Amino acid sequence: MKSNFKLSIIITLAGLLLQCKQFPSKDKVTITTKVPEKFNIYQPSEMSMLMREMLKSNQELREKIIADKEDIGDFNEAFLKIHTAKLTSSDKYDDTYPTYAKHFEQMQKAVFTVAKEKRKEQFNNVVNACVACHTNRCSGPIPRIQKLAIQ
Ligand code: HEC
Repeated sequence: MKSNFKLSIIITLAGLLLQCKQFPSKDKVTITTKVPEKFNIYQPSEMSMLMREMLKSNQELREKIIADKEDIGDFNEAFLKIHTAKLTSSDKYDDTYPTYAKHFEQMQKAVFTVAKEKRKEQFNNVVNACVACHTNRCSGPIPRIQKLAIQ
């Protein structure tokens, strides 16, 4: 029981680290000694799962582009879920969201259609499209997203 509780804390903290908000390192963290009645283990939303997939898949794509591979695969149709996937909280969805989502789709698709020597530049346009939507909405992952940029 006790170790289960510890495990849930670890899972919850790991979940928080991945979420939009920066982990509040400056704030005091209070540890409750009693197990709260409804102890919810962090459940990532459909959009969070999609985003993790987008990050992973673009990390792989980045390696292929850097390695100058001929075949970098195709646009992943699963990314189209960005227009409809359920979010953790509705305040991350506003009037500008569909515009950012459409722009991202166009940038990501273009990586697979531009001339080989334009791929790096186009890939960095994708990174900018990710960051643009994240600004003012979900700033936590931005440093990790920016690491994708190809210098
Ligand atoms: C149109 C807006 C938009 C675009 C474009 C976008 N994101 Fe996101 N991203 C979000 C929102 C909103 C969330 C929060 C999801 C939630 O809380 O349900 C998020 C969450 C994330 C997360 C955290 C997921 C988690 O574990 O909770 C990562 C990582 C991420 N995005 C990476 C990316 C990457 C990489 C790209 C580009 C390849 C990208 N995003 C493009 C809106 C966007």
